[in-house]
Amino acid sequence: MHPGSAVPPVDLSSIVSVAQAEGEAAGRTPADVWDYLVGGSGQEVTLGANRTALDALAVVPRVLTGLSERSLHCRLVDGEARMPVAVAPIAYQKLFHPHGELAVARAAAVAGVPYVVSLLSSTPMEELAACGGSLWFQLYWLKDRSRMLDLIRRAEAAGCEALVVSVDMPAMGRRLRDLRRGFTLPADVRAVHFGEQQASRDIAAGGSSIASHTAMAFDPSFSWADLAWLAAHTRLPLVVKGILDVDDARQAAHAGVAAIVVSNHGGRQLDGAPSSVDVLPAVVDALDDSVQVLIDSGIRSGSDVLKALALGAHGVLLGRPVCWGLALGGESGVAHVLSLLHDELDNAMALAGCGDPSSIRQLRTLTPAARPGGRR
Ligand SMILES: Cc1cc2nc3c(=O)[nH]c(=O)nc-3n(C[C@H](O)[C@H](O)[C@H](O)COP(=O)(O)O)c2cc1C
Repeated sequence: MHPGSAVPPVDLSSIVSVAQAEGEAAGRTPADVWDYLVGGSGQEVTLGANRTALDALAVVPRVLTGLSERSLHCRLVDGEARMPVAVAPIAYQKLFHPHGELAVARAAAVAGVPYVVSLLSSTPMEELAACGGSLWFQLYWLKDRSRMLDLIRRAEAAGCEALVVSVDMPAMGRRLRDLRRGFTLPADVRAVHFGEQQASRDIAAGGSSIASHTAMAFDPSFSWADLAWLAAHTRLPLVVKGILDVDDARQAAHAGVAAIVVSNHGGRQLDGAPSSVDVLPAVVDALDDSVQVLIDSGIRSGSDVLKALALGAHGVLLGRPVCWGLALGGESGVAHVLSLLHDELDNAMALAGCGDPSSIRQLRTLTPAARPGGRR
């Protein structure tokens, strides 16, 4: 809770599912910040499709497997994780709680899951690295390559374990909620990795507007050749985030990336793009085991994680629910959301007859079209 707020502190123990955290956090977050967090682009068709597709998917449980114990441990990219989940990069986390990214990094470290630091973090990566967890650093492609190289060297020196390149931002999607409200960042929340010069330009532009970062700093001409350049300039494994097309997945594999993230940016970029789970099976089929397939956009429960893995993903990224936890109680709130997700996944695995994440990938799934009476 924000200090000085009239809203009473939340009793985290009364929140018994990840999904419930959304309603509780909504009442504790200023309306403009809430809209920035939960909103999508355009008519929010893709935002809605992420949930519709997950809800419509069924997983067929196995029985009599003889298992009495489970482990959720797995490998994500090049490291160990205590469950097949990483915290997605989310910009400006001090918007949701004064401790911002530090609270999230600490909770992720305790939960044993990687935390993807956004390029637009409001806390420097070095401070987050001091929390001791597994950090991946996310980049958008910048016009200024020397600044990008500086950031890559900083990420390497800070001990980040992977570089996540988000490739779905040639321009920012039109977020109508933010446009209607004229949403701008408060003066005390800024993208610290951009340095003082950018920050003062933002303030001069009248409140550090998010679209101004995108337009001024991001390079829309980013191409596969640039990705090859990046691969040659870092020793860190690359993760390409924001893939939906099968041919793009193949190109990324060809470029030697360690993993891709099938993602529509949580419905915030092309409105009308497919849900991530709808394209996931074809992407998984197109790749061999040398590339891990992660997925995000709409994951809200342990059973959603089970569904994603049953479709062939190796892990998921969790976006907005982490910020619900942050808004509810800083580090404890995020820890609570991650622990609920762990317990939900553990329970779903028990009920589906799975002893570990790799066995989830053997489960059968049913989509609406494949059900009796469904469309073909
Ligand atoms: C408020 C907000 C800020 C985000 N900032 C970034 C970012 O800085 N970099 C990035 O690659 N993705 C960013 N994303 C996208 C997330 O990493 C992720 O793809 C998306 O939130 C997943 O969907 P979910 O929120 O439904 O779980 C952002 C998403 C939200 C909601």
